[in-house]
Amino acid sequence: MRRSLIRWSLFLLAAAVFSLPLVSWAQLTKADLDSRLKMESHVGNITGHAKDGAADYHRYCEGCHGVRGDGNGEVAQWFDPPNFPKPRDFQLGIFKCRSTPTGTLPTDQDLYDAISRGFDRSGMPIWNTFTKQERVDLVAWVKHFSPRFVSEKPGTAIQIPPEPEVTAERVKAGREVFARVQCWKCHGVTGEANGPSASTLQDDLGRPIAAFNFTEGSRPKCGDTDQDIYRIFMTGLDGTPMPSFADNIKPDEAWDLVFYLRSLMREPSKEKAIAQQLGLKPVDPNAPAPTQ
Ligand code: HEC
Ligand code: HEC
Repeated sequence: MRRSLIRWSLFLLAAAVFSLPLVSWAQLTKADLDSRLKMESHVGNITGHAKDGAADYHRYCEGCHGVRGDGNGEVAQWFDPPNFPKPRDFQLGIFKCRSTPTGTLPTDQDLYDAISRGFDRSGMPIWNTFTKQERVDLVAWVKHFSPRFVSEKPGTAIQIPPEPEVTAERVKAGREVFARVQCWKCHGVTGEANGPSASTLQDDLGRPIAAFNFTEGSRPKCGDTDQDIYRIFMTGLDGTPMPSFADNIKPDEAWDLVFYLRSLMREPSKEKAIAQQLGLKPVDPNAPAPTQ
C-alpha cells in the first residue's frame, strides 16, 4: 500500500514536471494581455500605441487571428495547410519575416513590412490601405499578445554587404553553394519544391508545410528583392523547417546563392540568361561532397 502510494506520488510529480512547459504555452488570460496594453512600437519617426490599434484589429484581423491573438479566429478552421497555412498565433511571438537572427524577435519595422506586404500563397492579405500610423499602431497591438516583447529585445538586424555585380562565375559558384548546403533536399534540384524531404515537412506546431517552389512565379513571403532573398536564408523563417544558414554560408557566397536562385525563378533575369548560356545543369544530389 505504502509502496504504491510512493509510486503514485512519483508519477504525479513526474506528470506535474512534464506538464509545466505545456502550462506556460497555454492560452494567455485577458488579464495577462491587458497588462501589456501600454505596448509601443517605433517605425521611422512614428510611435505606435497598442490601444490605438485595437479597433482596426477587431474589424480587420480578428476573424483570422482571434480575439486573443492565438490564431483561432472564426474563419481559422477553414484554413487547410500546407496550401492554406493557418493564421499566426501571436501569443507565441514567433515570426517568419525578420531582419534579425533566427530565434530572436523581429524589429517593429519587420512586422510593419510583413503587414504591409501580405503573404503570397496564404490567406494573409496585403494591408497597404491603412495609413502609416494605423499600421504602426497595429504592430504595437500584435506585439501586446506575446510576453516575449516585454522580456526580450528584438535581435540586431543582420549585416548585408552591398550587392556585387552578377557574373557567370558567381552564378556557377551559387550553384555549388546550393549543392553543398543541400537546399535541394527540400526545394528540389530544379527548385520545384520536390526534394526528398519535401513531402514530410511540418512546421513547429506539427502542421504540414510546403517548401517554396522557385519556378512557378509566386512571390517569396518575406519580400522579393535580392536583399530580401539574401535575408530569408540567412535569418531563416522561424516556426518553419526553413532554417537559417548564417553559420554555413559566408556573406559573399550568400550573394552567389541569391544569383543562382534567380536563375531558377520563372521571371526573366540576367542570372537566368547567364545560366542558359552556360548550359547550367541542376545539381546532382549523388555527386560526392566537394572537399574543402
Ligand atoms: C483572412 C485571414 C487573415 C486576416 C484577415 C489577417 N491575417 Fe495575418 N495572417 C494570416 C495567415 C494565414 C498568416 C500566416 C501566413 C503564413 O505563415 O504563411 C498571417 C500572418 C500574419 C503575421 C505574421 C508575419 C510573420 O512575419 O510571420 C502578422 C504580423 C499578421 N498576420 C498580421 C495581421 C494583421 C495586423 C491583420 C489585420 C490588419 C491580419 N494579419 C489579418 C491570415 C490573416
Ligand atoms: C528542411 C527543408 C528546407 C531546406 C533545407 C531549405 N529550405 Fe527554404 N524553405 C523551406 C520551407 C518549408 C519554406 C516555406 C516556408 C513558408 O512558406 O512559410 C522555405 C522557403 C524558402 C524561401 C521563400 C521564403 C518565403 O518568404 O516565401 C526561400 C527563398 C528559401 N526557402 C531558400 C532556401 C535556400 C537558399 C536554402 C538553402 C541554403 C533553403 N531554402 C533550404 C524548407 C527548406
